[in-house]
Amino acid sequence: MNAQYPVARPRRLRRTAAMRRMVAGTRLHPAELVLPMFVKEGIAEPQPVGSMPGVVQHTRESLRKAAHEAAEAGVGGLILFGIPAHKDARGSGADDPDGIVQVALRDLASDLGDALVLMTDTCLDEYTDHGHCGLLTPDGEVDNDATLERYASAALAQAAAGSRVIAPSGMMDGQVGAIRAALDAGGFAEIPILAYAAKYASGFYGPFRDAAECAPQFGDRSAYQQDPAGPIGEALREVRLDLAEGADAVMVKPALAYLDILRQVRDTVEVPVAAYQVSGEYAMVEAAAANGWIDRERVIMESLIAIRRAGADMILTYWATEVARGLS
Ligand code: PBG
Repeated sequence: MNAQYPVARPRRLRRTAAMRRMVAGTRLHPAELVLPMFVKEGIAEPQPVGSMPGVVQHTRESLRKAAHEAAEAGVGGLILFGIPAHKDARGSGADDPDGIVQVALRDLASDLGDALVLMTDTCLDEYTDHGHCGLLTPDGEVDNDATLERYASAALAQAAAGSRVIAPSGMMDGQVGAIRAALDAGGFAEIPILAYAAKYASGFYGPFRDAAECAPQFGDRSAYQQDPAGPIGEALREVRLDLAEGADAVMVKPALAYLDILRQVRDTVEVPVAAYQVSGEYAMVEAAAANGWIDRERVIMESLIAIRRAGADMILTYWATEVARGLS
């Protein structure tokens, strides 16, 4: 045999599908997928979200059906976003016991029990008429500490309505601590907090603002969400602060453009790490696939595998039900 031929041949382990399956180092399981869902107050029919083909704003009834389908497919959890019929400056719908998220949660809790984990996004932007994630000062800045009280109250309302995981997403300083204290004092010490810990001010949230009808009426979220070009240690600092305040799990968001951050966080903390494959990530794939430019299913799986490989234990994805069905 000619000595110049390679002895090491990585291709040996790639030759057949059976071989590749056996040596695969990254797998997806339906239980680690979380489906984000939108429920809108006062609509008679589900409303398609134009920039997210396949995603709808649900009615209470259609939400129940879709949540049931997710559970049947083995999806691990769902995270609920509500769009109230009326918005105001303080986001009153967020903590109203009869607000849309609370009403929908009670439906889901009674339908589904613990068939999957019911989670809620805790923020104000879906509920405020100005579209910012908190209360405003007279000069139009988001008032951190006044907002914390609103988050605490919203988290309590969600827990009381049946949420099993509170996921604060507003990026106010101290939000995890404020919510933890309120939950503990309110008799919900057992309810965990999944902190949107490293959340960037991202253009990839564009379509979500259609889905949740929460585009800021002025300015943007750069004064509270992280700068994509921000200090290198900022994400880990946010994560550590949230853990010190009592977070039980942490999230990195968006996912695909922030896999480096995801890996850093995964290598640093002991708690479960979630990644949110956000609306813009979804929309880009759907749009390119609709044009025949990419292979839709293949790109969906490849992006989810990449997020998993970078260290996500849980992935929030609008494709959760479809992917879970394909995996089982
Ligand atoms: C805030 C929130 C947002 C998303 C999840 N929670 C919007 C924002 O921060 O601007 C975006 C999710 C997505 O784009 O899919 N309530």
